[in-house]
Amino acid sequence: MRLDKYLAERTGMTRSESRKAITKGRVMVAGKICRKADTQLDETAAQIALDGAPLAGEYKKYVYIMLNKPEGVVSASRDKRDTTVVDLVAADYPRRELFPAGRLDKTSTGFVLLTDDGALAHDILAPAHHVDKQYLVTLDTPLTEEMRRGFAAGVTLADGEHLAPAEAEPAGDDPCTVRVTLHQGVYHQIKRMFGVYDAGVNTLHRLSIGGVALDETLAPGEYRELTEEERKQLQN
Ligand code: URA
Repeated sequence: MRLDKYLAERTGMTRSESRKAITKGRVMVAGKICRKADTQLDETAAQIALDGAPLAGEYKKYVYIMLNKPEGVVSASRDKRDTTVVDLVAADYPRRELFPAGRLDKTSTGFVLLTDDGALAHDILAPAHHVDKQYLVTLDTPLTEEMRRGFAAGVTLADGEHLAPAEAEPAGDDPCTVRVTLHQGVYHQIKRMFGVYDAGVNTLHRLSIGGVALDETLAPGEYRELTEEERKQLQN
């Protein structure tokens, strides 16, 4: 990677600020001042100092962020009208091209994974990979045996689309609160599945993706990076 790009990613400077810092002699590479912005680096082993101080933290090729999406925020990178999931984290990741790996409806809450790793996002979203997702859903009517059996067999939606088997199980004592596990991702899937039984969804909260659970200490709008273990779990 070029030195100016690397410095910008690591410090949050813009590319032009980064180039200026380099040409002014503020940047050292392996102990020597380097004034060439296009110097090529091995970013995994680079020893860079700015104004005499080594850059803090480690270089990360990609970032993986677990966000507890609040209600009213859209699952997109940019939007003209609404706050997006990427807007919520952007100040901490100014030079990253982040996007959500999978969407939640504007009214839904819970686990959204933000990353700049296109290959991992593709793997998670590929229909053939059947990455499980778990949701806590409150209905406007109690869960019935018919719904449970229908989900297990695979619901046929109003438009004739037949979905893969899924699970709908009671979650605690309230008969309207249901834990749903999906093995595929179709637009508005849970709302449309319950719609087949004339049941409305009041709230929908994503609990986990691919066996990685949303950190319960994250309040709505809060986020943290995945641990190494969680990232490996997702990749598996
Ligand atoms: N199914 C839905 O209907 N909405 C979501 O946000 C996620 C799954």
